[in-house]
Amino acid sequence: MDIALFEQYESNVRGYIRSFPTIFDTATSATMVDVDGKRYIDFFGGAGSLNYGHNHPLVNQALINYIQRNGVGNALDKATMAKHDFIESFQNTILKPRKLDYKIQFVGPTGTNGVETALKLARKMKQRSNVIAFTNAYHGHTLGALAVTGNEFYHDDYYGVPLNVNKLPFDHYFDQDFDSMDMLRHYLQDGSSGYDLPAAIIVESIQGEGGINVASVEWLQKLAELCKDFDILLIMDDIQVGNGRTGDFFSFERAGIKPDIVTLSKSIGTGLPMSIVLMKPEVDVWEPGEHTGTFRGNSHAFVAGTAALTLWKNEDFSTSIRAKGTQVEGEFNKIKAQYPEWISDVRGLGMIWGLESKVAGFCAEVSHQAFERGLLMETAGADNHVLKFLAPLVISESELSEGFEILQAAIAATVAKYIEEKL
Ligand SMILES: Cc1ncc(COP(=O)(O)O)c(C=O)c1O
Repeated sequence: MDIALFEQYESNVRGYIRSFPTIFDTATSATMVDVDGKRYIDFFGGAGSLNYGHNHPLVNQALINYIQRNGVGNALDKATMAKHDFIESFQNTILKPRKLDYKIQFVGPTGTNGVETALKLARKMKQRSNVIAFTNAYHGHTLGALAVTGNEFYHDDYYGVPLNVNKLPFDHYFDQDFDSMDMLRHYLQDGSSGYDLPAAIIVESIQGEGGINVASVEWLQKLAELCKDFDILLIMDDIQVGNGRTGDFFSFERAGIKPDIVTLSKSIGTGLPMSIVLMKPEVDVWEPGEHTGTFRGNSHAFVAGTAALTLWKNEDFSTSIRAKGTQVEGEFNKIKAQYPEWISDVRGLGMIWGLESKVAGFCAEVSHQAFERGLLMETAGADNHVLKFLAPLVISESELSEGFEILQAAIAATVAKYIEEKL
């Protein structure tokens, strides 16, 4: 077995295999092991799809039981016990305690399918085609989702021109005091601003891929208010930072807002393919079967997701996420204080954190040095200028401290390398 097989036969488009060039074989909690038995602490967390860690015992046992009793596998969108139990637990454990009244649409299995659906639904409901999205936004790679994604690396006009989208600065996009919500309100009140009234505004409350940009509570509240005032639907893309990443189940809970549409994917199925769109009942304007597809709901993902939702039955999980998050923030601030010339910012919330460097290539080199030493950590941001912490929320104390020891060593090695190369 050899990594060369992937180079020979797998498309050039392969990505993460290039950052982490080994063949992984087994994994538990926040530790992955490759075919040579080398351990890696996982600060990458499947890009947010492994909030409950690798092979969580509750999830594994539920899946084993389901398969052993020949539970239905693929059922398209027929009713199954697996789907019944998922809907029931999601309503009872997540939505009702938060006084959120949403209907659930099961869509194709990845996040971008959810975004595509949300945009289509909003446009249909409001009978308007324009949508507003933000700088540094990341919403996926199907054409509608790409049109609301910022990073030019993913765009090309020959994929189709991203019509009907206006881009606005995200919160704190400019260093100086500038509020894009004030600007938008002004634009929408001015009939000659050139801004068409949008059907929807799509936003991440924390931009993950865009570089760990945390929107303030005030900005999110202003956004929600503006949507209400102008009859615009607010779509919250919680695909990366929902499912407990911030300490709350939904990332927008901290702002006390109730978006009209919410997209969830990644960890909702504990990393098995599953994507859902939540919509206020009055937004559910679909005709039966109007937006369809073969893989709308995967039975094994329902079973796995239902098992994981039991962790939300009381406050303990949230409390542990917040405590670990505070520890990570402390470690990151320590690193910034230690390397002021190399690290320019620390930002995040809960269990998503970023270390920003303005030194070209620095974060990619740290990621490489970390991998060599047994730590998986990716970069984010338009110029890969942010080192991103997105470990499973269930990471243990010992995995966390082992990971931070490796990170320290990787940063020291990177700094030494830069200094040596300059000399
Ligand atoms: C906020 C957000 N939306 C949408 C997506 C797209 O999800 P997927 O890669 O499953 O299509 C991602 C993926 O990283 C994401 O972070």
